[in-house]
Amino acid sequence: MPVLVLAPDVIAKIAAGEVVERPASVIKELVENSLDAGSTNIEVHIKDAGKELIHIKDDGCGIAKDDLEQIFQRHATSKISNMEDLEKLASMGFRGEALYSVAAVSDIILRSKTPVIPAKAGIQKSGSPIKTFGNDNSAWEIHLQGGKRLDLKPTALSAQGTEIKITQLFYNTPARRKFLKSTTAEMQQIVNVFLPYALLYPQKRFVLTHGERSLIDLKPAFSAIDRIADALNLESKDFIETTQEFVELNSRVRMVLSNINVQRPRRDLQFIFVNNRPVESKNLSFNLNDIYRLILPPGVYPAFLLDIQIDPSEVDVNIHPTKREVRIRQEARLVSFVRHLTEYTLMQQGQAKTLSADEDKAAPMHQRSAPGAWPTNSITSPEQIVFNPMSSPNSESSIESHFLPTEKLGGHTIGDNFDTRPALGRSSHWQTSETSLFKNADNMQDKFARARYIGSFIHKYLIFETDQSMFLVDQHAAQERIMFEKFENQINAGTIEIQHLLTPILLKLTPAEHIAWEESAQQLKTVGIETTAFDDDTIAIQTQPILLKNIENALRVLLSGDDIARCDRTTIARRACKASIVSGDRLDVSQAAYQRNQLLACKDPFTCPHGRPTVVELKESFLDKQFLRI
Ligand SMILES: Nc1ncnc2c1ncn2[C@@H]1O[C@H](COP(=O)(O)OP(=O)(O)O)[C@@H](O)[C@H]1O
Ligand SMILES: [Mg+2]
Repeated sequence: MPVLVLAPDVIAKIAAGEVVERPASVIKELVENSLDAGSTNIEVHIKDAGKELIHIKDDGCGIAKDDLEQIFQRHATSKISNMEDLEKLASMGFRGEALYSVAAVSDIILRSKTPVIPAKAGIQKSGSPIKTFGNDNSAWEIHLQGGKRLDLKPTALSAQGTEIKITQLFYNTPARRKFLKSTTAEMQQIVNVFLPYALLYPQKRFVLTHGERSLIDLKPAFSAIDRIADALNLESKDFIETTQEFVELNSRVRMVLSNINVQRPRRDLQFIFVNNRPVESKNLSFNLNDIYRLILPPGVYPAFLLDIQIDPSEVDVNIHPTKREVRIRQEARLVSFVRHLTEYTLMQQGQAKTLSADEDKAAPMHQRSAPGAWPTNSITSPEQIVFNPMSSPNSESSIESHFLPTEKLGGHTIGDNFDTRPALGRSSHWQTSETSLFKNADNMQDKFARARYIGSFIHKYLIFETDQSMFLVDQHAAQERIMFEKFENQINAGTIEIQHLLTPILLKLTPAEHIAWEESAQQLKTVGIETTAFDDDTIAIQTQPILLKNIENALRVLLSGDDIARCDRTTIARRACKASIVSGDRLDVSQAAYQRNQLLACKDPFTCPHGRPTVVELKESFLDKQFLRI
C-alpha cells in the first residue's frame, strides 16, 4: 500500500479513540472541564449508559462566543500556552483534545453563558433590569455533528455556566459502539470515574442520574469525612482524617482512613489523588493495604482516600490520556512517608471494632476467627459445617471408602524427576509439565487417601504423611474446591439449600454496587440469594445458600467486577465461594481428615476453582536431595 497522509476526519476519529473510548471517558473529560472552570455545582444526566444521551450542566465561568469557535479544534486549550505552563500545571485538562475528540464521534450541542457585563445589561427606566436572555451576547449555543459545525447562535440561559448535550455517541465509529459493554458495566464505569471527584471536592455539589434514577446526589458537605461517608454509604464515625506536610519533598499528604469497622472483600473503596487527579498507583495502594494488615484480618480491605499535593515538576502526568498512572520522581521516599503516616494515624486514633446486635449477624465470618479483638458470634461458623465429621451420617472410615472417587484428575507431585530447588511448586512448572507431573494421579489419590494427618503449618497448610511422601494441603484452596463443587452440584440439581433469615441482613451498597444489584437481583435469586430493596441505598438479604457463610462478602464480590447479570451460574458459584472462604482456622485431626476426604470426593480435587493447586506432594527423595543425602 502506498504511504498516504490520512484525511483529517480519519485522524479525528483515531484521536477520539485515544481520549474517549467509552461513555465513562467522555464523562471524565467533561467533569474535569467543569472543575477547571471553577464550577461548584456539577450535574450529569445519562440515558442508556450514555449511548442515548450524556448531559452535563455546570455553573463555571462559561465560554465566550469567540472561544466557542475555537474549543472544538484540536489542541485548542485555554489552560496552557507554553512549556513553562505545563511544568506548573494546575488544571486537569491541558491537551485541548477532549471536546475535539468527542465532537468527532457524536452529535454535540454546547450552550454556555459567561458573566453578564453590567454596563451592557443596563437598567430600564422602570428600575427592573433589562432581560438579558439571548440579546446580551453572553449566552451562545453551538452545534456540531461528526466534528462539523452545524450552527452557532445566541441562546437563552438563565444562569452562568455551561451545558453540553451529547447524543449519538460513536455513531460514526460502529466498531467502538459495538465494543461497549452492557448497560450495567458501562454505568459502573461511569460511577467509578465520577465518584472520585465528588470525594475530592466535598464542598461542591455533584449529581448523577441514569434515566429516571438518581445514582449520586451529594449536597455540599462540611468535611471530607462526611462526604466520603455520604458518597459510599458508610458512617462518618468510621473515618479519621489527617494532613501532614512532607517538607523534604515540598509536598502535603492528606488522608481519610477508615477504621477497623470498614472491611470490604475488594479494594473498591480506595482512592488516590495526585495534584487533584484521580490516579492509580500500585505502589501506594500496596503499601497502604499492607499497613492495614496491622488492624484488619486477612482477605479484607479498608476504604481510604489519599490526596497528595506535590510540586508539579516532581510529577509526570503527560502520559497516555486514558491511563491514570502517574510517575513521581522520588516515589520511594513519598511511599515511605505515607506508610509511616498511615501507621501512626491508625495506631493513634483507630477505634476498636464495634458491633451492634444486628451487625453481629451480618459480620463476616473471618471476624469471628480472628484473635482477641473480635467478639464471638452465635451463628454457625463454616468450618463447623464444612469440616465437622459429626454433621455427616458417615463415620470417618466409611466416608473415606464411600467417597473415594473412581475417576480423578491429577495432583501436584514433587519427586525424583522434578528438582524444584529454585522455586518450589513454581506455577510455570506445574502448568507446563502438567501431564508428566500428573501421570501418577491415581496413585496420588490413593496415597493421599491413606496419608496420616500430622499437623499444620501457620494454620495455612495441612501436612499429611505416608511412608514415602509428605502432602501439603492449601487449606484455603481445598475448602474453596469443596464448597464450590457442593454449591455447583446443588445449583445444577436445582436443590440449593437455602436459609431464610429471620431478620434480613441489611447491606448498604455503594452507587456502583447498587447499579449491579438492580440488574442482577433475579440472577442472584437463581443461586439462592434473595434480596429486596430496603431503601434508596440499602438492600435486604432475605435468603442465603447455607453453603455460603459469609454472604455479605460473597454478595459484594458478586456485585463488583464483571457484570454479574451476564455471568453463568457456575461463574457466580465460583466467585461466591471464593468470597465466602475463611482462612486460618486451626483444624484438629478429625477435621483435617474430614477435609481431606471431602476433597477427594470432588470431581477435580487437586486444583481450586481458580486453578491453583490444592495439594502438593513432596517425596522423600525430593527432601533427601535438598539435604544433599543423594
Ligand atoms: N465546562 C466548561 N466551562 C468552561 N470552559 C470550558 C468548559 N469545557 C471546555 N471549556 C473550554 O474549552 C477548552 C477545550 O476543552 P478540552 O477540549 O477539554 O481541552 P482542555 O481541557 O485540555 O483545555 C478548555 O481549555 C476551556 O477553555
Ligand atoms: Mg478538558
